[in-house]
Amino acid sequence: MPTQQSIQITLLKESDLVEADRICRLAFGTFLGVPNPLETFGDRSFIAPRWHSPNTKFIAARDNGRLIGSNIATRWGSFGFFGPLTVLPEYWDRGVAQRLLASTQTIFDRWGLRRTGLFTFAHSPKHVGLYQKYGYWPGYLTALMTRAPESGSTQHPPTLLSGLKKAEREQAIDACARLTHKIDKGLDLSGEIRSVLKQRVGDVVLTQTRGALDGFALCLTGPGSEGGEKLCYIKFGAVRPGTGADKRFDQLLAACEAFAASRGAAVEAGMNLAREGAFRQMKARGYRVMTQGVSMQRPHAAGFNRADAWVIDDWR
Ligand SMILES: CC(C)(COP(=O)(O)OP(=O)(O)OC[C@H]1O[C@@H](n2cnc3c(N)ncnc32)[C@H](O)[C@@H]1OP(=O)(O)O)[C@@H](O)C(=O)NCCC(=O)NCCS
Repeated sequence: MPTQQSIQITLLKESDLVEADRICRLAFGTFLGVPNPLETFGDRSFIAPRWHSPNTKFIAARDNGRLIGSNIATRWGSFGFFGPLTVLPEYWDRGVAQRLLASTQTIFDRWGLRRTGLFTFAHSPKHVGLYQKYGYWPGYLTALMTRAPESGSTQHPPTLLSGLKKAEREQAIDACARLTHKIDKGLDLSGEIRSVLKQRVGDVVLTQTRGALDGFALCLTGPGSEGGEKLCYIKFGAVRPGTGADKRFDQLLAACEAFAASRGAAVEAGMNLAREGAFRQMKARGYRVMTQGVSMQRPHAAGFNRADAWVIDDWR
């Protein structure tokens, strides 16, 4: 039986990544009742690709040195979120997650964020109650939506960030940050964007009008990525707000679908239901809700979960 003294919270080491991934699959699979819990998430990888990102911090829980849980804090400029938070099932309900959460809040405080959030199981009193203890409040549901790939797609190939020359690429990353800043002060995906390109775990789809950025989406797909080989997972997407945002959003979805089709993958995208127009537009384009959870934020505020924020994300 572990004691509060034998459990330590430290930074995760690179040599822990394989075991952290195993615990993550086992924990989610056990909670969800998957017959072989280690097969949870299939070929998708939610831990390793984040390790080299400049905008993440990994923390570990250990019992006498043995890894028993972990959490990842991710920074998108002035906004941060955490997850996957996982604890080895034999250690559940002994306060391990709470120790990890206390440490995560210290990281967020050090980063000086305006707001932080998470995505969790809406039906679970344990999950919602646990996060409420740390100042998080549930908001709208977030739907995880998918759309099958179009066979024989004749869509225009989209503009990809990886296809731009270095100087143009830097300009485009700055333009992405200016666009998100207009949606929510300080929101900035630059670190995440650089990480996707560096690790080749997907690409960034850009939509433009006469050279001006209309929207962008981080599309994670391929072996070793968060999407895996069969999915093009839009981890974050956004279009310039204001008049015409709905049309720009449609163009961004079309560009993401063309990119996914070129990889033979289905699109997966998270949509917070506070963004009613965007959600309805995705339904109209043939997206179906596969599952849903709830977003929780600290402090209790809308943030960019608003009807006028044409954003795709889910904070997994
Ligand atoms: C969710 C998970 C990380 C929790 O880890 P844990 O170490 O068991 O959690 P802790 O023991 O630290 O905290 C449990 C807390 O949940 C809360 N809780 C539990 N049941 C509750 C209920 N019915 N109502 C309200 N709050 C409840 C309590 O605050 C409790 O702590 P307390 O009894 O000391 O007050 C772990 O169960 C896990 O890995 N699950 C599978 C993966 C997963 O779901 N990850 C999170 C995805 S968002």
